[in-house]
Amino acid sequence: MRYYYTLILALWLGKTVAETKPSEIPDWLKNYDFNPPGQCNSDPAGPLNPQHTDLTCPLLVDDEIALERRSWLPWTYPPVCAEPEKAGGSKLCVFTYVNLRGEAGISLITTPEIAAAGAGILKDLDPTWENWARDSPLVVSDPPPYEVRELKDKGMGVIANRTIRKDEVVMLRYPVIIRVMDPRPWKTQDVMKLLHRATVQLPPKEGKQMLKLAHSKGGYILDDIVNTNAFGVLLGGADHSGLYLDVSRINHACKPNRFSSTTLGMEVAAYRDIEPGEELTFSYLPLNLLSEQRQTLIKEWGFNCTCSLCTSPEATAVSDRHRGRIQELLAELDLPEMRNHADVNKRVDEILDLCEKESLAAQVGDFYTIIAEIYSSMGDVNLAKKYAKLAVKELKHYAGYDHERTKGAAAFLEALSG
Ligand SMILES: *[C@@H]1O[C@H](CO)[C@@H](O)[C@H](O)[C@H]1NC(C)=O
Ligand SMILES: *[C@@H]1O[C@H](CO)[C@@H](O)[C@H](O)[C@H]1NC(C)=O
Repeated sequence: MRYYYTLILALWLGKTVAETKPSEIPDWLKNYDFNPPGQCNSDPAGPLNPQHTDLTCPLLVDDEIALERRSWLPWTYPPVCAEPEKAGGSKLCVFTYVNLRGEAGISLITTPEIAAAGAGILKDLDPTWENWARDSPLVVSDPPPYEVRELKDKGMGVIANRTIRKDEVVMLRYPVIIRVMDPRPWKTQDVMKLLHRATVQLPPKEGKQMLKLAHSKGGYILDDIVNTNAFGVLLGGADHSGLYLDVSRINHACKPNRFSSTTLGMEVAAYRDIEPGEELTFSYLPLNLLSEQRQTLIKEWGFNCTCSLCTSPEATAVSDRHRGRIQELLAELDLPEMRNHADVNKRVDEILDLCEKESLAAQVGDFYTIIAEIYSSMGDVNLAKKYAKLAVKELKHYAGYDHERTKGAAAFLEALSG
């Protein structure tokens, strides 16, 4: 049944997009800033939201204010808070919302200020806006084309149970736990108590699934689970750890995924065709690292890199040579004496060729941005525009339409065109 709804929704979205794109979208809308300074951190409903013009953050609420006002909206439960160790700091509280986009629950462990500024993530998306912003409607495979299974020697993993086509979005998840990354201003014991509360306030299904995730370092189990599985996310402009359930089951490899800073949604998309029985994997790391840097970083997650880029000596040597060469070429492009078309064109071609050899498709957008900046500094606006456009296209696809890097590239393109 859900499949048909998805299909109807997809058809409807496709229609809406066709109708509104591109002439009906006015310029102010194209350049809409998702995160206007001094206002709420995000408004997923986007500028098509009729209430958009009076967008303000929800009122700040903590344990005392909730009691006084007898209201803790938009949260489901009254917040529970801990005092900072030093006077004058912020409280740390648990804010739970149990019906995020009809799917899951979410518990934030953060300050009341950040919760108020970041509460925009709770809003539903305006599909017309979102699909316009991302260039094509989002269709998430349903039923899922994978199973979560026990793997030999590797714990749990996510295995394709049918052919998955390149660019298919197989998963879209929101975090169940978001926690300030630096908990030092508060007592460890208090932070652990809040984490416990954050977990029990989740809907039981999510709470149980969370407890089944891997842990690696010992100590308080919930803390260990968050430290082992969480991704870095920005909420209210501050660094947080975000725990995603199924996404955390995907083991490390050398490919990345897509992330929305507006909704905190994590999309897992296939970057190539995947055969039934193959494991779905992605990178937890920046992609242009050399093998030694990769191994060092990855140990922080309590496991060793086992994808071919890390384990096969020949593959590693070739890959390191390619990636080292890219770094070399980028350094050369920084030199003032290289700022002529012959030298730059040659290096650009070589970088793009190496990206293809190294399957750095997910990174090529960043290289396009750098190339656009170089041509712009040489006064070649046409080539700068060409690469800035390519950068926006690739970054939308691989980083997400509202990613910081995408927004940066779009702003650069805008400046070139203005
Ligand atoms: C793949 O597994 C999922 C469960 O994760 C199931 O819903 C789906 O029907 C399976 N697909 C096939 C083709 O077996
Ligand atoms: C990673 O590799 C090192 C050295 O080969 C080994 O000592 C360590 O136990 C491995 N760690 C894991 C989690 O497999």
